[in-house]
Amino acid sequence: MSEWFESEHLWANLGPYMFSAESMTRAPNEVSQIIALAGLTNGCVLDMCCGPGRHSVAFALAGWTVTGVDLSEHLLQLAIDNARQSGAHCDFVCHDMRSFCRPSTYDLAVLLFSSFGYNADPADDRRALQNLHSSLRRGGTLVIDTVTKETVASGFVPVTASRRDDGSMVVRRKSVVDNWSRVTFEWITIANGVAEPHHFSYRIYAGSELVDLLTSVGFLRRKDLWRLRRESIRHRLFPRGTDGEGLDRRHSGS
Ligand SMILES: C[S@@+](CC[C@H](N)C(=O)[O-])C[C@H]1O[C@@H](n2cnc3c(N)ncnc32)[C@H](O)[C@@H]1O
Repeated sequence: MSEWFESEHLWANLGPYMFSAESMTRAPNEVSQIIALAGLTNGCVLDMCCGPGRHSVAFALAGWTVTGVDLSEHLLQLAIDNARQSGAHCDFVCHDMRSFCRPSTYDLAVLLFSSFGYNADPADDRRALQNLHSSLRRGGTLVIDTVTKETVASGFVPVTASRRDDGSMVVRRKSVVDNWSRVTFEWITIANGVAEPHHFSYRIYAGSELVDLLTSVGFLRRKDLWRLRRESIRHRLFPRGTDGEGLDRRHSGS
């Protein structure tokens, strides 16, 4: 049986709400903060699950050699268009994070905007991290921006809605299920008087569970653990309230 994230229909329908124009303009600042967090200046970066390429483009414009990988051909086409419009050179590859591996190639790998934990089988989450680990050069850095159990617990908003300039809107409902191991989402898009529900979910890890998982696939010196334990790559990138809605909106948006 195919997994929810393999549906092009879902990404095509939710993409306009998930990757708003405003989220595209935020990307260069997010990339600056990632570069500072990683303590690197430039090199080769792997933007795993790059979606419409907003971070890939910002990395390329900052002088990095970029590979953006995503499973969705629809989103990759948007990424190609974005790069072309921005005059950025990126290598975009349609591939699955469960099998994509280019041994010892990258100085930095990023997995951003809650792109982790989608797999039904947790062994696939682990396999994806193993591939990222193998794809990094010795001493390379992985930056993950994801929702953890702690961040869900600290800012849970079960229902949100937003409207786009063209009058279409989305109502987002979410629930924590399976003994706090997953969050499930129902996003109902309403456009031209037609409502369509979309369902998806992802596994949430506690910060310490994520660190254990990363350690088990070979990541981390102590310095990196400390960085992760601050958790809050999300807090660093998106401090509560900085864009008016802060974390709650980010939770509901991914
Ligand atoms: C929430 S979006 C984030 C996109 C991008 N990182 C951003 O910040 O705009 C999640 C992305 O993960 C991709 N994805 C999901 N599962 C994948 C997999 N197994 N392999 C590669 N890409 C995957 C989706 O196609 C989608 O583009």
